Amino acid sequence: MRIIKVKDYDELSREACNFVLNNMTQNEKLVLGLATGSTPEGLYSNLVESFKQGKASFKNVISFNLDEYVGLKAEDPQSYRHYMNEKLFSHVDILDENAHVPNGASINIEQECKDYEKLIEDSGKIDVQILGLGLNGHIGFNEPGTPFSSRTHIVDLNESTREANSRFFHSIEEVPTKAVTMGIETIMESKKILLLVSGKNKAEAVAKLMNGDVSTKFPASVLKQHKNVTVIADEDALSELK
Ligand code: F6R
Repeated sequence: MRIIKVKDYDELSREACNFVLNNMTQNEKLVLGLATGSTPEGLYSNLVESFKQGKASFKNVISFNLDEYVGLKAEDPQSYRHYMNEKLFSHVDILDENAHVPNGASINIEQECKDYEKLIEDSGKIDVQILGLGLNGHIGFNEPGTPFSSRTHIVDLNESTREANSRFFHSIEEVPTKAVTMGIETIMESKKILLLVSGKNKAEAVAKLMNGDVSTKFPASVLKQHKNVTVIADEDALSELK
């Protein structure tokens, strides 16, 4: 894993934006894997700014989001589709049909998972996958114990993850109990992975990732077996690294 150490969240967001833009320049039809949550928000606002300044076009980009809550419609303000529209898709020239987020409101979620895998496969697999890091090491919604061989699937969300995500809802009761997520193997098949970590609250997770063994107990540890992972982390996130 290549680690790029940055001062703070703003620098992380700029670096991540440059990383994505460089890949868009090198690959006209970039297949980009996207994450939601707090960490990539700055990346998305920098990408929107670059688009507005005429420095980037998303016309040929195909995107696949990592995950979506089960039971939330696209228009639901808490859905990840809504998040992506608000933070990125509505502000750039990506084509609607190229911006994929699993449909958590599908009446046949099992089929949705299979179709999502096929779409990724048919697009030639993901060139650059953006990831955030869960406090318990989850990537996407792959919680501890998820087999490394998993493909896109339905998950029961851990209480700790629901608790962490309740900040986006009125109360923890509103946080869905299930989600659809790309599997660990799906993520690992991406050609490049960009892991973004910021803040003191992630420092312990970063230390576990860097110092611990590769184990399903800490899903992100699998990234050590990938050939092309770049981690952009700020000083706070790296503060517990020995
Ligand atoms: C979001 C996702 C999650 C987050 C992780 C970190 O699509 O897949 O794995 O990346 O929970 O979230 P933040 O960035 O909010 O700390």
